Amino acid sequence: MNTVKKQKNKANVLRQRYAAIKSSDPELYYLIRCEQKRQSDTLELIPSENIVSKAVLEAMGSVLTNKYSEGYPGARYYGGNECIDKIETLAIERAKKLFDVPYANVQPYSGSPANFAVCLAICNPGDTIMGLHLFDGGHLTHGWKKSVTGKLYNSIPYHVKENGEIDFTSLRNLITKHKPRLIWVGATAYTKAFPFKKIAKIADEVGAYLVADIAHIAGLVISGVHESPSPYAHVITTTTHKTLRGPRGGMIMVTDKGARKDPELANKINAAIIPGSQGGPHNHITAGIAVALKEADTPAFRKYGKKVVKNAQALASELIKRGLSLVGDCTENHLILVKVGKGRGPIVEIALDLAGITVNKNTIPNEPSTPFYPSGIRLGTPSVTTRGMGVTEMKKIGKWIAQIVNLVRDEKLPPGKSAKEKFLKNLKTKLETDTEIKQVRRQVKELCQKFPIRETFI
Ligand SMILES: Cc1ncc(COP(=O)(O)O)c(C=O)c1O
Repeated sequence: MNTVKKQKNKANVLRQRYAAIKSSDPELYYLIRCEQKRQSDTLELIPSENIVSKAVLEAMGSVLTNKYSEGYPGARYYGGNECIDKIETLAIERAKKLFDVPYANVQPYSGSPANFAVCLAICNPGDTIMGLHLFDGGHLTHGWKKSVTGKLYNSIPYHVKENGEIDFTSLRNLITKHKPRLIWVGATAYTKAFPFKKIAKIADEVGAYLVADIAHIAGLVISGVHESPSPYAHVITTTTHKTLRGPRGGMIMVTDKGARKDPELANKINAAIIPGSQGGPHNHITAGIAVALKEADTPAFRKYGKKVVKNAQALASELIKRGLSLVGDCTENHLILVKVGKGRGPIVEIALDLAGITVNKNTIPNEPSTPFYPSGIRLGTPSVTTRGMGVTEMKKIGKWIAQIVNLVRDEKLPPGKSAKEKFLKNLKTKLETDTEIKQVRRQVKELCQKFPIRETFI
């Protein structure tokens, strides 16, 4: 088929896919197509995002969404669940095999509800929990004061050192002093390998439950490019939509070690999901998770996971070569934190966005500014790697990022919240017509067209 025919064919496929929405709700149809175009013409470097396969999309768009199934396979509060039971069991068995655990719950609506359910299952209100501080890359649900996990429990955060590594000496002292009931290991912006074994040793000394939140690195664990927490943690939680490349959802797994510590742990977690904190499972998502887990259990996926890290390291090297400063000077996973100057994260985020490179502003260790106006940006390679990009493309992307960071190097936020907001709005308007940004955007689009979003990866 020649190129014009191929393009026409693709356009037809897309039109057919949304044909019903197009006729019933043209306004929404337009917005979906708009987002579809944005995704296909820009480089998605937000490390928690990815692109699912057509098979995952089909599962999510299936009739399974029509069914109520409160409870668990074989023990539901509703009739008519004979197919759903089999689907949920399939997802559970695939998760158990892939993560080498004896027990999995695939019902959490997402990563946050999964983490809350683990707290509910293990802790009583007022118990002490520990997690990496939000500003150091930890997640809200690991005890941040505005999260229910920080309100209900006595949360003691631990920190990273200037080089981005967990400050182990201080962590050891905190654990010994506070004797927490539960310790979280895992993060949303951490560029090093998690020291599961080392933390487990101290957790065991004080009898704490160690919970590994592998939301970001689940796909890397499956691919063997990050150590598995399975031998060390009692419980593992994850989202299913980041490096795992499935639908938006969550899972909770109990390890052999966890089941030995408390043989009732799996039942307690089940009860913490329903009736504890959720209602009926989202069966169409459960099916999407089952599909993604099958896709992940292949040599092609393991190759993908390795390539994600290789690409991140290539991108990190290119950024350093071009004079940018990274937290920890490198990355050991899929994620990079670039230091862009005090409070300048939003400026760089806006400029890169206009150039077609999507990133997010992020705090850095010892953040000198605030989380709303942080001093770093966070980048990751899961999505561009799914599109098939490799080291050559990472070098190009690194060059463009450095070029844009340099372009806005003299822009500085004024003091005061409303002055800052006004400044950023004006900056966006000013940069929209910048010729250098427009030129990078054109090049980005050309690159994206060479690596179109495909419908199958495996
Ligand atoms: C480490 C970690 N845990 C949990 C979550 C929460 O996931 P969700 O946004 O699906 O609730 C995230 C999301 O970014 C995360 O990075």
